[in-house]
Amino acid sequence: MAEGGGEQARIIDGKAVAAGIIEQVKEARDRLMSALAVKPGLAVVLVGENPASQVYVRNKSAKAHECGFHSEQHTLPASTSEADVLALVSSLNRDPAIHGILVQLPLPDHVDEQKVLLAIAPEKDVDGFHPVNVGRLSTGAPGALVPCTPAGSVILAKSALGSDLSGLEAVVVGRSNIVGKPVAQLLLRENCTVTIAHSRTRDLPSVCRRADILVAAVGRPQMIRGGWVKPGACVIDVGINRVAAPDLGEGRTRLVGDVAFDEASTVAGAITPVPGGVGPMTIAMLMANTVTAAARAAGRPDLAAGVGATRTAA
Ligand code: GUN
Repeated sequence: MAEGGGEQARIIDGKAVAAGIIEQVKEARDRLMSALAVKPGLAVVLVGENPASQVYVRNKSAKAHECGFHSEQHTLPASTSEADVLALVSSLNRDPAIHGILVQLPLPDHVDEQKVLLAIAPEKDVDGFHPVNVGRLSTGAPGALVPCTPAGSVILAKSALGSDLSGLEAVVVGRSNIVGKPVAQLLLRENCTVTIAHSRTRDLPSVCRRADILVAAVGRPQMIRGGWVKPGACVIDVGINRVAAPDLGEGRTRLVGDVAFDEASTVAGAITPVPGGVGPMTIAMLMANTVTAAARAAGRPDLAAGVGATRTAA
């Protein structure tokens, strides 16, 4: 691990690590096809016209196609009733060509998110948001499908630090169900000493300075400053925030993370960039979960064993 104090941190290449996982996914897909003629199937459901969600959903469907999956995108108007969303989920649950179902969040206000997530069959819940999968992750029960961004974040930490994270201090800033809580569970499973910090945490900078692994998942642009980072730490920036960039021209924007990258990268030992860090890993892990779900449904989990397992570059 590099010492801090002016040296540049190693930039963790999320695109490269994600490309390695996609290769594993394609190999598993080929094994499923040649042994059992099973083609993994992913259904992505978008309700409404949220522009960021439209981009995410298009990218997920395109990657599924690239992986040789059966890929379906269901785009419903914002006015769709909750009953109609639930009916679609129910028909996808029953469809043998579909092994993974993803309902893009957020949903319109009149559709109860918890009700929809509960309606997805846990074995097709490739987001890992169903309470059954949340429970499996937290208890260590077998068969969990693990949320994609958290799983990708831990793989990136291992790519920088090596596969053994035992005993390291991990601080997760943010307590969402989508990232903060599950990434904390995964780091605990890796034998880290885990702190979940949030908006009410007292003296957040000094809590962050304890971290050997600092995971930023707050959704606030560049909130985590260089001085909050322990010299040599591994910083995983989950934030994707679009901010005004007048230096690029009037009306232009750019993507930034939750970490002030220019400052933090002179202190950290390794850091993920935004874009090109955690983002590509989320989609890669979604593909890994889909091929895993397909192999389990076919009664041959061995055909997808090890897909999405950590690859250490350290
Ligand atoms: N919205 C933001 N992140 C996610 C995600 O990982 N899955 C889904 N379904 N919706 C999201």
